Amino acid sequence: MTNDPLPDGLTLRQKASLSSGASFWRTKTVAGLPAAILTDGPHGVRAQVGAEDHIGISPSAPATCFPPAAGLGQSWDPQLVERVGAALADEARANGAGVLLGPGVNIKRDPRAGRNFEYYSEDPHLSGVLGAAWVRGLQSHGVGASVKHFAANNAEHDRMRSDSQVDARALREIYLKSFERVVTESRPWTVMCSYNKVNGVYASENRWLLTEILRGQWGFDGAVVSDWGAVGDRVSAMAAGLDLAMPGGDLTLDETVVAAVEAGKLDEVTVDAAARNVLTMLQRIADGAASARPVDLDAHHALARQIAGRCIALLKNQDGLLPLDPSRALAVIGPFAVQPRYQGGGSSHVNAARLDIPLEQIRKQALGDVSYAPGFGVDGDADRLRDDAAAIAADADVAVMFLGLPDREESEGFDRGHIDLPEQQLNVLRAVVAVQPRTVVVLSHGGAVRLAEVDRLAQSILDGGLLGQAGGGAIADVLFGAVNPSGRLAETVPVRLEDVPSFLNFPGENSQVLYGESIYVGYRWYDARKIDVTYCFGHGLSYTTFSYGTVRAESDRDDLVVTLPVTNTGDRDGREIIQVYVSKPDSRVRRAPKELKAFQAIDLAAGATAEVTLRITRNDLAYWEERVDGWIVEGGAYTIHVGSSSKDIRGATVVDINGDTLTLPLTEDSTIAEVMAHSTAGPLFASLAAQNIAPVADALDNEFGVDIARVAASIPLGHIAAFGGGFSRETLDRFLEQVCE
Ligand code: BGC
Repeated sequence: MTNDPLPDGLTLRQKASLSSGASFWRTKTVAGLPAAILTDGPHGVRAQVGAEDHIGISPSAPATCFPPAAGLGQSWDPQLVERVGAALADEARANGAGVLLGPGVNIKRDPRAGRNFEYYSEDPHLSGVLGAAWVRGLQSHGVGASVKHFAANNAEHDRMRSDSQVDARALREIYLKSFERVVTESRPWTVMCSYNKVNGVYASENRWLLTEILRGQWGFDGAVVSDWGAVGDRVSAMAAGLDLAMPGGDLTLDETVVAAVEAGKLDEVTVDAAARNVLTMLQRIADGAASARPVDLDAHHALARQIAGRCIALLKNQDGLLPLDPSRALAVIGPFAVQPRYQGGGSSHVNAARLDIPLEQIRKQALGDVSYAPGFGVDGDADRLRDDAAAIAADADVAVMFLGLPDREESEGFDRGHIDLPEQQLNVLRAVVAVQPRTVVVLSHGGAVRLAEVDRLAQSILDGGLLGQAGGGAIADVLFGAVNPSGRLAETVPVRLEDVPSFLNFPGENSQVLYGESIYVGYRWYDARKIDVTYCFGHGLSYTTFSYGTVRAESDRDDLVVTLPVTNTGDRDGREIIQVYVSKPDSRVRRAPKELKAFQAIDLAAGATAEVTLRITRNDLAYWEERVDGWIVEGGAYTIHVGSSSKDIRGATVVDINGDTLTLPLTEDSTIAEVMAHSTAGPLFASLAAQNIAPVADALDNEFGVDIARVAASIPLGHIAAFGGGFSRETLDRFLEQVCE
């Protein structure tokens, strides 16, 4: 909340009216500041030209369609993501918009969740770093971000009323963490609250979330905007810290705010605060106009192609089948080769300014014959389509098959009930591989798909997630080696749907979703349960190879600095993503076997070596301690693993960290062990125990040979008196009075 004074003479009615939009995308004009347009986002500008809607049905102006987050997340490349943000800002301005509704930094909790394609990762560090980069880029060109959907919005099913029931550690360490990083590092101009409830309270009415955490703990100084239609009760929402309810248009809702103030049910300072936050946003937007740059759609297409190339992960490459020798005869199979699947449905759906067709792009770079057959997914007899595809595959040197999820399977508004590729596609793959073992599969999909069979059948696999309008060119670049792949999976590919952490708790029942897996999301779960996966988090190969030297880690003030030499040991220039995972095997709290805490991309010429330095902040080592409602860094030894994926760990070292002091408040419910561990109460209790309990304990010990101290460790203080033995209620009360603050 800013403390700037409100412009003189603003009436209560004017202030209340600022807290809702004038129309679907537009704010109101008050205090001489021009109204602003907020528009979707996030992988392109969806500026609607006629009818307005929030699910992407009515037409919008042509705009560059960059890779959606499902692709972008695989780049692990904050520098390039920042450039995408800046380019998006220029296009937003050109379309009159001052806020672009993104990025989406929700966690991919379950692969079936319908909007996973709009989110970066199952991991909060990766999601937060990329989200923060996107916001930095966007806002550096004078357009505000709207980080969404705050918070714990991880499914589409029943999305406007379902209650996400999440324990405190999972909330802080997983679901809020990415938002925290974006808010604290990149200071977004707005945050968008989500539709759902969080632990029983609608996000739009959740004071704990919107005010205590967002503003109080993270220092957010922008405006909280509602998701479109998320506000049911304007007065409760405003009291909770919601500044701008969208979409606008219904003035009677502003009157409910005025009436609540007049009836003494809402404090006018709350209305002032919301008005101030909206005015700050409008001022930032007005000032930002000066940073806008002219749009060069050709340059944006080239950037979209460069970033798409960085998003492609090479999952498998048996016998070095890729990159393709351009003189070989190719059979390209699958309708996605001519009608690419490059974005998802719903509010983020962009009217792509142009579109690269993979088959055309392959033909541009190939020197040999390139034949094409759809194989599936178009009208015609399925057996015939399959046989035709197999026939061209048999005649060629290599088959390149495009597989993936069709458009209708992935959109805002619904979840998937499975994670399978269509059976018809797998049938064609089986037939093609039977006659052409040199088969490359190129995958297009937003949410994760099961790949166990594809992995068995195909010799090479490229996975781009969704790649945006220039994906066709980027796929050809990687197939022929103009780009050496460096993308990494941002989400685990499980062997079976039944293996996923939230399998039994998704999408919930009776509008309640129990986040029963707690902090064990994604690879944290598979690692802890030792469940095999088809491809692990962070996986992605290259056309070259890298070797990692000795890992060193040392403290630098509060941070931990990890260094190591990395060498490109192959004969081709390449880019490696070095990943740092941290473990604390002897932790006093439940922890995942390892957690991503840093990563760094490095370009290395063939044969070259470079020293890589990665920084882990002390904050990132902390866990959320529920008993003190705060972050705590546990002292002692931490293992720092450095690898090329979450499983391909190439080196490790152990480092000692000074811990924070954890002082638990003592109550009647504190156990004897907790009291003994307390710095002042412990010695006091020990002397009391020596006088009152020791004789009894000694007697028992002698008689039964039992270590009474050990057995008694779990007894709460308040229950000691009930055992008799000389430790009376009175003694206990006196003790508590002495030790409790
Ligand atoms: C979506 C938001 C979007 C808004 C405006 C909502 O349905 O959840 O992500 O920004 O509509 O279109």
